[in-house]
Amino acid sequence: MIQKAARDFAQNELKPGVIERDEKQEFPAEQIKKLGELGFMGMMVDPKYGGSGLDTLSYVLVMEELSKVDASASVAVSVNNSLVCWGLETFGNEEQKQKYLVPLAKGEMIGAFCLSEPEAGSDATSQRTTAIDMGDHYLLNGTKNWITNGSSASVYLVMAQTDAAKGSKGINCLIVERGMEGFIVGAKENKMGIRGSDTHTLLFNDVKVPKANRVGEDGFGFKFAMKTLSGGRIGIAAQALGIAAGAYELSLDYSKQRKAFGKVISEHQAIQFKLADMATEIEAARLLVYKAACDKDAGLDYTASSAMAKLYASKVAMEVSTEAVQVHGGYGYVKEYHVERLMRDAKITQIYEGTTEVQKIVIARSVLS
Ligand code: CAA
Repeated sequence: MIQKAARDFAQNELKPGVIERDEKQEFPAEQIKKLGELGFMGMMVDPKYGGSGLDTLSYVLVMEELSKVDASASVAVSVNNSLVCWGLETFGNEEQKQKYLVPLAKGEMIGAFCLSEPEAGSDATSQRTTAIDMGDHYLLNGTKNWITNGSSASVYLVMAQTDAAKGSKGINCLIVERGMEGFIVGAKENKMGIRGSDTHTLLFNDVKVPKANRVGEDGFGFKFAMKTLSGGRIGIAAQALGIAAGAYELSLDYSKQRKAFGKVISEHQAIQFKLADMATEIEAARLLVYKAACDKDAGLDYTASSAMAKLYASKVAMEVSTEAVQVHGGYGYVKEYHVERLMRDAKITQIYEGTTEVQKIVIARSVLS
C-alpha cells in the first residue's frame, strides 16, 4: 500500500514538470510539501513526535518509487528522514525533539545535514569549522559545502570542531536555525545532475548557537555523523536502486514500441541481452538494499550492509542508466525521454554520503575486524 502510494505520487505529482525543474534548477517545493502531508518526510519517526512510525523497509520502498521519477525530490526526502529526523530522534534530548523534530517529521520544516567542507569531504575528521565554547553558547565560524536543502531548510545540523587537539573526539553537532545572526546561505551549485535539488555553500560568521542546541554529549559530533550516515546510506542506496529501476522500466517500454530492421527492437537479441543484464543487476541491488533495511529494523549492526548496498546500487544505477540511453539510441540523448537525466542523476549516488571509495573503506574495516 505504501509502495503504491509512492508510485502514484511519483507518476501524478513528480513526473509532470520534472524535465522543466531539472532544466531551471528549480526545487520541488510544492511536491515536498505534499510529501510532508502524506507522512513521507518523517516516515520512521515515532507518531508521538509527528512521524509515521514506519520501518526502514517501508522507507526504502518509498525512496525507490520516488527516485524512479525524480531523484532531486527524493534526496530532499532522504536527507530529512535519514539524517536529520533519525539523528534528532536517536540522539537529541526531549526539548530538541519537541522544538525541531516534530515540525521536521510533519514536513512543516525541512532539515539539512552539514558535514562537508571545502577541504573535508571524505576526510570528515578534518573539520575547519569551529565552535568555540563561550559558556552558555558556542561561537560558530566556518564554511560548509555542497549542502542538500541548503536554501529550503529551516533547521541545520552542523558539525564543528570545538577542540582540535582531540581530533574526531573534539567535534560537536549543533542545531542551527535559519535566521540566526551571522548565518548566510551562500552560492547555489550549478550541478550535472539532481539539478532540482538546492545544493548550497553555507557561511557561518560568529553565529551564537545556544549550548542547548548541542546534540549529545560534548565531543559526540563525529560519532553522531558516522552513525547517522550509516542509515543515510540505506536511503541513498534506495535512491540509486530507484534511478536504475526507472531507467530500466523506460527501456523495457521503449523496446516494445520502437521498430528497427523490420521488428520491434525487443525482438533483437542485442536488446534482449541488455534488458536481461539490467534486470539481473537491479534485482541483486534490490536484495542488498532491502537486506540493509531489514538489518536496521532487526536491530543488527548495519554499518557494513548499508555501505555494501550503497556501493553496489550506485554502480548499478550508473551502468543501467547508461545502457538505458543506449537502448533508446538518439532519443535517449534528448531530454524528453527522461533517461539522459537519470544517467546524470545516477552519478551523484557514487559521490554523496560517502564516495564509492569511502564505502570500500567502511566494508574493508568491517571484514578485517
Ligand atoms: N559508527 C560509529 N562510530 C564510528 C563509525 C560508525 N559508522 N565510523 C567511525 N566511527 C568512530 C570510530 O570508531 C572512531 O571512534 P574511536 O576513536 O572511539 O575509536 C571515530 O569514529 C573516528 O573514526 P575513524 O578514525 O575511523 O575516522 P576516519 O577519519 O578514519 O574516517 C571514514 C573514516 C569512514 C572515511 C569517514 O571519515 C567517512 O565516512 N567519511 C565520509 C563522510 C561522508 O559520508 N560525507 C558525506 C557528507 S553528508 C552528505 O553527502 C549528505 C547529503 O547532502 C546528501
